[in-house]
Amino acid sequence: MARSKVTVIGAGNVGATTAQRIVESGVADVVLVDIVEGLPQGKALDLAEAAPVVGHDARIVGTNDYADTAGSDIVVVTSGLARQPGMSRDDLLAKNAGIVRSVVRAAVAVSPGAILIIVTNPLDAMCHVAMDASGFPRERVLGMAGVLDSARFRAFIAEELGVSVSDTHAFVLGGHGDTMVPLPRYSTVAGIPITELMSPERIAALCARTANGGAEVVALLKSGSAFYAPAASVFEMVESILLDRKRVLPCAVALAGEFGTHDLFVGVPVVLGAGGMERVMEIALTGDEQVAFDRSAAAVRELVATLASLG
Ligand code: APR
Repeated sequence: MARSKVTVIGAGNVGATTAQRIVESGVADVVLVDIVEGLPQGKALDLAEAAPVVGHDARIVGTNDYADTAGSDIVVVTSGLARQPGMSRDDLLAKNAGIVRSVVRAAVAVSPGAILIIVTNPLDAMCHVAMDASGFPRERVLGMAGVLDSARFRAFIAEELGVSVSDTHAFVLGGHGDTMVPLPRYSTVAGIPITELMSPERIAALCARTANGGAEVVALLKSGSAFYAPAASVFEMVESILLDRKRVLPCAVALAGEFGTHDLFVGVPVVLGAGGMERVMEIALTGDEQVAFDRSAAAVRELVATLASLG
């Protein structure tokens, strides 16, 4: 049986690290694509030469030609400009929309059955661009944000309480950005809600750090933005789909009435399996949580409206 095939578009920090994680896990062959000649070829060759040491047989090739991506099961889109210090995600809107539109069109023309995972920021708006450019049903257009946001929250909770990250779960809803909605009552250590383990002040501080997680890394790096945690998060989604694990992961999906929201990509918990987004796990929100969710959704809607006005 042939190995699955994953195309990763964008051979920069996030794309190359994602390609490395996928190929070294052995779950799929990888095609790494970039607009810069030589970049994907060089990184792919380097990764292929690591294979004997790492001990996997998955293949990785680099290319500037979408013909090589034909028949992909999953297409991960990381191409775009990364956020620089002082630059908001929204500043990137028009530029990255053009890039995402063109790469998605080229990729889906040769992989019409693929599942798209969008990573390029501003994430929720880029998911709209990808859905529009691909014409795919909502089950096959996913945005990677919630896994990363909840990973950050988990890391901070585990550090605060001095416990294993493995026993720490976090629940984050909403758009990827300052308005994201961490849900402390569903964030747990070994099943115990953190509301029973930490003061409201400490929880608020960790929630704020989570919402600011991307900017904190950008400020330290001075040039470029986070890529290890984003790549690990994409890999978790890819693995759940290819192995049909049906993991329940927070992803940006086009809501169709769930959480009181229509026709908008917002981060919610979903079941990820061979069919892509197989089910939205809808939960009842408290009044305050629904207000925060609606505020987050409104921020995404505003971005989508700006995008439309830019043509
Ligand atoms: N087609 C293919 N590749 C492109 C195109 C295009 N039209 N335009 C840009 N790229 C490539 C660049 O050449 C570069 O190699 O996308 C890559 C982006 O890599 P980085 O600049 O290293 O950015 P990275 O840190 O990987 O972030 C990529 O993910 O998390 C988000 O906010 C982040 O939107 C950004 C994206």
